[in-house]
Amino acid sequence: MLEAVKYLQQGEVIGIPTETVYGLAGNALNEHAILRIFEVKNRPKFDPLIVHVANLDQARDFVVAFPSNALQLANQFWPGPLTLLLDKKPIVPDLLTAGSQRVAIRIPNHPLTLQMLKQLEFPVAAPSANPFGYVSPTTAQHVEDQLGDKIPFILDGGPCAVGLESTIIGFEAEKPIIYRLGGIRLEDLESSVGRVKLNLNLSSNPLAPGMLKTHYAPLKKIMVGKIADLMTKYQHKKIGIISFTEDYKPLNGSTQIILSKRGDLNEAAKNLFGALRVMDQSDVDLIITQRFPEEGLGKAINDRLHRASS
Ligand code: TXA
Ligand code: MG
Repeated sequence: MLEAVKYLQQGEVIGIPTETVYGLAGNALNEHAILRIFEVKNRPKFDPLIVHVANLDQARDFVVAFPSNALQLANQFWPGPLTLLLDKKPIVPDLLTAGSQRVAIRIPNHPLTLQMLKQLEFPVAAPSANPFGYVSPTTAQHVEDQLGDKIPFILDGGPCAVGLESTIIGFEAEKPIIYRLGGIRLEDLESSVGRVKLNLNLSSNPLAPGMLKTHYAPLKKIMVGKIADLMTKYQHKKIGIISFTEDYKPLNGSTQIILSKRGDLNEAAKNLFGALRVMDQSDVDLIITQRFPEEGLGKAINDRLHRASS
């Protein structure tokens, strides 16, 4: 962890664990580090970065104010998989927010990363540590596989406990709006602040709508539907089956990953991105998966699968 602190102080970009997914981290106030993040990820500069801080006091250094709903959510869910979109102070570089007057900010819930953030005198910018458009990494090895030759260090904090990116919430006239479903259950958000609107077509750049459609996608074609029907339809192909609980007894040449035998959506979420990577690296021609129950983290899982398949 001390090594991570040192690299970040030197303006380097490194891999860090969070409870959601691994991040590609750099000093959020240093334009060279920010540029390097965009470069390593091969990410267009119109797509802004999330700022990670150690505590609520530090967050106040970078945002103009917390509307009361935002404060309520922060108190309830931080540290945790919640990102708040709030009006930024001028100290936050425009490069980081892609010119927007709002900054995305969160306190991650990972012991190593929290310790690290406490030792730094600046906040940390970190998008997911995958090449732009690909599935987010949920282990240090995933980061190593794709970005290992471009960064000097990856802090290994074990497999991510949540496995889906953070839920992103902004406010219009103090009313909360979800821009990205993520690691917090909608039910839990709503029992905190009441009904929340969904606007899931967040394109950070309003001039480039739809450009981020192919987000979260594995390289292989992925089909979402009734697994048994899709198995029949594609019986002459080598298929990779990703199911929630059920064993489909795949035929020769096909592979299967069951995300949670006991039917736990949190466990399924935790295993999802790793499963997509395993299928991508295997010799299957096509990935077949199902729709998940529209409750708890099932909603965010369905959102990711929908994006990956479109
Ligand atoms: O769980 C997470 O949020 C992970 C971990 C590492 O914290 N980070 C993450 O970052 O998923 P990234 O960059 O892969 O996704 C952040 C999303 C992007 O879709 C980006 O467009 C949006 O948040 N975003 C960031 N800052 C924004 C801003 N100022 N305004 C609008 N959208 C913003
Ligand atoms: Mg990402």
